[in-house]
Amino acid sequence: TVIGVLASGRGSNLQAIVDAINAGRLDAKIGVVIGDNPEANVLKRMAGSDIPTVCIDRRQFATKQEFEAAIAEELNLHHVELVVLAGFMRILSRYFIDRFAGKIMNIHPSLLPAFPGEDAQKQALQYGAKISGCTVHFIDEGMDTGPIILQEAVPVLEDDTTETLADRILHVEHILYPRAIALYCERRLTIEGRRRVRILNEE
Ligand code: GRF
Repeated sequence: TVIGVLASGRGSNLQAIVDAINAGRLDAKIGVVIGDNPEANVLKRMAGSDIPTVCIDRRQFATKQEFEAAIAEELNLHHVELVVLAGFMRILSRYFIDRFAGKIMNIHPSLLPAFPGEDAQKQALQYGAKISGCTVHFIDEGMDTGPIILQEAVPVLEDDTTETLADRILHVEHILYPRAIALYCERRLTIEGRRRVRILNEE
């Protein structure tokens, strides 16, 4: 399965996916990594690897649709079959989602539907949650609302700061995301009804 990764920042989840592929835990190929701004560290991280990187800067486009059309074109150019959002800080519109229906995944650093949107770890702390975690889900037009694929919990500890909680969650993200992508690549994910993801057993 050819994967296209969209990212805006650090790129640690992308790195975890690359590592899983290299270790033989994930039978996939990264066709292209697209960053939405030239500062994205994720683009520097991939420099020197054999993975093609492209910067598609939102600021160069008059409208969101033109920006998304450019992304879609780049993904198609590389024959991408699954779009993986890894720290991609933009909401995709209906226009883009329809072009890759059921083929876009995201990871979010909370147990959805709790704490969607930005600063999920800070939200969890401020709310006083005792457990948080991360969620891999398919994308729909909402903010972190699509069908849930995998979730894993971590405790929120007494002395946690946003950073210590974020680190604990990130560690789990790096395990969970490659696993969810592997399930997709093994054709083991189906959506029942409107939003329940069923995981089929291995053959
Ligand atoms: C992760 O915490 C992910 O859950 C969220 O954005 C962050 C991206 O980190 N969507 P990285 O760029 O993969 O290091």
